[in-house]
Amino acid sequence: MTFVQQREKVGMSDTSTFNEIEQTDPSATFVSWLRKVAPYIHAFRGKTFVVGIDGELAHQGYLHALAQDLSLLNALGIRIVLVYGLRPQIQEQLALRNIEPSFHNGWRVTDKATLECALEAAGELRLNIEAAFSQGLPNTPMAHAAIRVISGNFVTASPVGILDGVDLLHTGKVRKIDTKAIDQTLANNAIVLLSPLGFSPTGEAFNLSLENVATNAAKALRADKLIFVCDTDGIHDEDHHLITELELDTAQHLLQQDHLNLMTKEYLRACIAAIESGVNRAHLVSLKLDGSVLLELFTHDGVGTMISQKNLESLRPATLDDAAGIKALIEPLEIDGTLIRRGLESIERDIDKYTVLEHDGILWGCAALYEYTEGYGELACLVVHPSCQGTGDGERLLKHIETLAKRRKLDTLFVLTTQTSHFFLKRGFTVTHVDKLPVEKKKLYNWTRKSQILIKKL
Ligand SMILES: CC(C)(COP(=O)(O)OP(=O)(O)OC[C@H]1O[C@@H](n2cnc3c(N)ncnc32)[C@H](O)[C@@H]1OP(=O)(O)O)[C@@H](O)C(=O)NCCC(=O)NCCS
Repeated sequence: MTFVQQREKVGMSDTSTFNEIEQTDPSATFVSWLRKVAPYIHAFRGKTFVVGIDGELAHQGYLHALAQDLSLLNALGIRIVLVYGLRPQIQEQLALRNIEPSFHNGWRVTDKATLECALEAAGELRLNIEAAFSQGLPNTPMAHAAIRVISGNFVTASPVGILDGVDLLHTGKVRKIDTKAIDQTLANNAIVLLSPLGFSPTGEAFNLSLENVATNAAKALRADKLIFVCDTDGIHDEDHHLITELELDTAQHLLQQDHLNLMTKEYLRACIAAIESGVNRAHLVSLKLDGSVLLELFTHDGVGTMISQKNLESLRPATLDDAAGIKALIEPLEIDGTLIRRGLESIERDIDKYTVLEHDGILWGCAALYEYTEGYGELACLVVHPSCQGTGDGERLLKHIETLAKRRKLDTLFVLTTQTSHFFLKRGFTVTHVDKLPVEKKKLYNWTRKSQILIKKL
């Protein structure tokens, strides 16, 4: 790739700073990249992540790559519990024995023969996973890794029982997770491997779902993250745009929508259950994208969907009643020159462009989205009250505006700022020149103010 192509790819303009040009030097790029991921490394050390992998992952040959990525996380001090699914493997076993699969209301009916298939499939996949974690050839990502993968009877199960008169037989659900034993194993830096099989106190085996085991493990272990590596790249809105961040209530609302397929809904339901029971974050990433777990964890926007508890109810479109509150919020910044002056009338006139962050009836932040031609949108007036800055509200407002812009089919977002360029640079914007602005905005550019222009492809 030529330098010019490279610049276009990262959205750099003719006026790129020396710093940005320096970034195209491979060693500078490497150092800059490593520094960028350092905060995540610090933040994740000692945290527990439950990673649920769809049976399709092994079936489609992506197991070794995932093992390399999870081994790296393990080396970074992240405590990993790996749960694997078995749907295609069970199907395969059933087909080998000419057994017709039987389902009722989305549940598999696990008779004795089907249970045998599940046990066989689980044993084989467990060995394949152990083999994948045993890689260690010189000059490969797992050289010197020496990862230990421990599995055991960590999951107690009970039968689902009879639904609408249909006995699901050996289909079960999680009753208890042996957190003490798992914690001890994790404390020894091993990766804990859980199959979708559980055992009852009577010594019977039960066929469980990946989602049920992973969610219950995340809940019982008070995991920081539940990550599903699955056959979808995340949750999409009705226009098929990937939603990178989802608040709990929006996620619950999406479950009622028709555009998500059944399997995606199953994963979303599992994520919602985990978040509702106290897991900090749940993620859905694609099993087909090489490095998807790393990209989701170590890049700002991620590559899948992240679901979190934070109630976006407090983020809402502004109404005329908010105009005075917005004015009060931005006035001190107008006085010190951070923001251009806007009269109350202009805020009232443009009120439908504003989003406000409200808590207990008080406005703590705001941001506005102005639409231009050629797919451009301007983020303006992004403000968080000084008393609550630094807690992520600025970022949340920014992400919300990005989501709104995408929904309105805008593909480029820009912002003019005199004092906050680094906040935006850190969040995927690059410096550009006034020439790159849409025509109508170019005419309005205030040359005395000399604001920096930052731009981001959405
Ligand atoms: C910019 C602003 C909205 C950020 O809000 P916030 O709630 O503090 O942001 P978050 O909590 O999401 O993020 C905090 C991070 O932003 C950084 N940050 C905050 N203000 C910054 C600035 N002026 N320049 C560079 N970085 C800044 C913080 O250092 C912190 O960095 P960290 O993540 O490395 O710790 C807030 O500082 C503000 O209202 N500033 C005045 C108005 C303004 O300049 N608006 C932008 C032009 S439209």
